[in-house]
Amino acid sequence: MPPATIASFLCRSCAVDYQNLLVADRGAVRQITINRPDKLNALNLQTLQELDAAFRAAREDASVRVVVLAGSGEKAFVAGADIAELATLSPVQAQAFSRAGQSLMRGIERSNKPVVARIQGFALGGGMELAMSCHLRIAADKARLGQPEINLGVIPGFGGTQRLTRLAGRAAALELCLLGAPIDAARGQALGLLNRVVPVDRLDEEVQAVADQLAAAAPVALAGILDAVTLGADCAMDPALEFETQAFALCCSTADMHEGTQAFLQKRKAVFSGR
Ligand code: COA
Repeated sequence: MPPATIASFLCRSCAVDYQNLLVADRGAVRQITINRPDKLNALNLQTLQELDAAFRAAREDASVRVVVLAGSGEKAFVAGADIAELATLSPVQAQAFSRAGQSLMRGIERSNKPVVARIQGFALGGGMELAMSCHLRIAADKARLGQPEINLGVIPGFGGTQRLTRLAGRAAALELCLLGAPIDAARGQALGLLNRVVPVDRLDEEVQAVADQLAAAAPVALAGILDAVTLGADCAMDPALEFETQAFALCCSTADMHEGTQAFLQKRKAVFSGR
C-alpha cells in the first residue's frame, strides 16, 4: 500500500486520498504532512488546495483537538511557493494564487483548534508564511527561516509582509524581506518567530509533548484563547476586551471549568472531558 493510502486509512474521518499530503491521527492529534520531499515540499496550487481541504476536515472533525503541520523528509518544512509554477503565472493567475495561499493561511490562523508547526530544515518564503499562520512553532536547531522572494523579483504573497511584521516587528520584517537572507533558528527564536528550538533528534518528542498537552486541555478554553488573541488583534481594545469577557463567560458554562476548578481545590490532576 503506498504511503498516502496508508495515511488515509489511518485517518478516522479523511476518506480523501491526497496526492501531496499524508494525514494521520494519533488520539486527538491530527498530523498533516506536506509530502513533496523531492521538491522540498514546495507549495504548488494543488498542495495549497489539498491543505485547505485537510484543514477544513480537521476543523469539522469533533474528534480532532490539535493539528500538527509538518514537512516530509529531513531537509525542509517547506522551501516556499513552487518556483516552477510561479514562473508561469500571469498577473491574474498570480492574484488567484496569492489569494488561495492567503485564504488557506487565514483559515489556519483563525482555526479554534491549535495548530503546531513542526519545522525541520528550510522554512522559506511560503513555508515561512505557512509556519507563521500556525499558533505555535517548534523548530530543530538547524532550521533556516526566511523570506527570499526578493531574490526572485517578487514579494511574499501569502501574508508574509503582515504576519512577519506583527510577530517580529517592522525592523526585522523589513530586513528579512528586503535582503532575503535566511536566518538560523536561534535568531528566529530571539525575534519571537519560534516558540521552541530543540536538537533535531528531540524534535518529534517535543512536538508530541506539546500536542499531547493541548489535546488534554479543555477545548472550549483553548478555542476562547485562540479566538480572543487572533480576532482580538484585529479589533480596537474595547471590543476585543468585550470578546474576551464573552469567551471567559462561555468557559464558565462548561463541565471542564467545573472539573478544572474542583481538581485544583481537591489537590488532584484535572481530567477534561471536552464538554
Ligand atoms: N519551488 C520549486 N522547487 C523547489 C523549491 C521551490 N521553492 N525549492 C527547492 N526546490 C526543488 C529544487 O528545484 C530541486 O529540484 P530538482 O532536484 O528537480 O532540481 C529540489 O527541490 C532540491 O532543491 P535544491 O535546490 O537542489 O536543494 P539545495 O539543498 O541545494 O538548496 C534551498 C536548498 C532551499 C537553499 C534551495 O532549494 C532554494 O533556494 N529554494 C528556493 C527557496 C525560495 O526562494 N523560496 C521562495 C519561493 S517564493
